[in-house]
Amino acid sequence: MDYKQYVKIVEDWPKEGIQFKDITPLMDNGKAFKSAVDEIVAYAQEKEIDIVVGPEARGFIIGCPVSYALEVGFAPVRKEGKLPREVIKVDYGLEYGSNVLTIHKDAIKPGQRVLITDDLLATGGTIEATIQLVEELGGIVVGCAFIIELSYLDGMKNLKGYDVMKLMSY
Ligand code: PRP
Repeated sequence: MDYKQYVKIVEDWPKEGIQFKDITPLMDNGKAFKSAVDEIVAYAQEKEIDIVVGPEARGFIIGCPVSYALEVGFAPVRKEGKLPREVIKVDYGLEYGSNVLTIHKDAIKPGQRVLITDDLLATGGTIEATIQLVEELGGIVVGCAFIIELSYLDGMKNLKGYDVMKLMSY
């Protein structure tokens, strides 16, 4: 499927000079969204995934239907102060700003095979932080799946040695 037909480009959002790629038109189209999720599920199928992990908030939108289809659990990675029990945390840089991500300490058991999902790979700060959290808990990152990559921001530099799939690239 040509997913780019569902991407709306928004100039100067959320800040001047940023050209935002809005994929909500892809998600609110039932056929396109199902096709995107199905492609990620097909990618993950042979990887014997134990659990899907996705960072707040848009990583949840992709990760949850994928985990449902794979019949495995989903563990949320959230911004600081959002998870109620004991967490581990990591600082990360964003395309515009910086933040702290956390995961519950017992979300992943050592040796579990993890698929990480997110809507977007931009600078790669979020995925790098998410991988760090998963690995600190002893999880094995066997795949990372994105709807869209902004290749000019070179997020792939943080993913050397990892198996990565993305549905489209700008
Ligand atoms: C966006 C996007 C990715 C991340 C990609 O999330 O959903 O998670 O940025 O950027 P990076 O590769 O430069 O780290 P954001 O942090 O804006 O949070 P949100 O999903 O809660 O809006």
